[in-house]
Amino acid sequence: MLAKVEELVQEVEGFNSSNLDEIEAFRIKMLGKKGAITALLAEFRNVPVEQKKEFGKGINQLKKLAIEKVNQLKEQAEDEASNNKGLDLSMPAEEFELGARHPLSVVRNEIISIFNRIGYSVSEGPEIEDDWHNFTALNFPKEHPARDMQDTFFIEPEIALRTHTSSVQVRIMESQKPPIRTISPGRVFRNEAISARAHCIFHQVEGLYIDKDVSFADLKQTLLYFAKEMFGEKTKIRLRPSYFPFTEPSAEVDVSCQLCNGKGCNVCKYTGFLEIMGCGMVDPNVLENCGIDSSVYSGFAFGMGIERIAMLKYQINDLRHFFENDLRFLKQFKTAY
Ligand code: DAH
Repeated sequence: MLAKVEELVQEVEGFNSSNLDEIEAFRIKMLGKKGAITALLAEFRNVPVEQKKEFGKGINQLKKLAIEKVNQLKEQAEDEASNNKGLDLSMPAEEFELGARHPLSVVRNEIISIFNRIGYSVSEGPEIEDDWHNFTALNFPKEHPARDMQDTFFIEPEIALRTHTSSVQVRIMESQKPPIRTISPGRVFRNEAISARAHCIFHQVEGLYIDKDVSFADLKQTLLYFAKEMFGEKTKIRLRPSYFPFTEPSAEVDVSCQLCNGKGCNVCKYTGFLEIMGCGMVDPNVLENCGIDSSVYSGFAFGMGIERIAMLKYQINDLRHFFENDLRFLKQFKTAY
């Protein structure tokens, strides 16, 4: 009798199948009404008393083993079946959401591309800048009131976060020989309260062109080309006299309002124009400060705020949107490049 139990234990242990019908057949063969284990149990009463204990233990273990085995194989087989069920290799893949470039990157890339097309390279400078490159070389002498035009974050008395990308002009002129034709995009910092129209961190693009015989007419034509490429063929520009220490003469540039086509509306405050940048002929003092002979070379510079251009282009009315990373805002720029 015990030998029979042992034989069945080996049969159960040796059984393996991933076919549900086979497993069921095995269950019936072992545990069914007429199964081998059931038959053994029926024999129990015929076992001599002194063997009952050992036999009972053996047969219980066998039964437990058989049930576990059947359940385990069944579970495996069902798992496999459900993994394969409905597998359709021709089904379209699940969609995954594409990100969008930040609108400031979109506009910066567009500005770069517009100037690349007329031969401007891209250059960069440090965000932590010394007094010379941010102020002194640009004709802001120490104690000059024009330094107050830009509220500065100082790190040390002579070191500050740059207040404008004009500092890159100086670095370029110090290290390159004319002709120079470059734009410098980057972050700038000013100690200003944050509002819909101002932020303590924002972005500018600086432009610089130095060569022999560069004139104000070249500047105007370059800016007109830029405005038309950026805002559309019908765009007009207007230059108003202004003051910057590093340019002489200096001007502020307006573009015709996109909303009313220059007729006047509440966005342009009924002037028909919106200011987009500062510009001018590089002051001879600045050329000399940077080691360029002002009797041979002349040039122009301009500087614009990327946020401002983006606000005009996409009619965004609050500067803070650019810095809050609200997906509802950012998702709207998916089609831009
Ligand atoms: N740096 C000036 C600013 O941040 C902008 C500017 C004006 C840059 C005139 C220029 C320029 O290069 O010629 O307000």
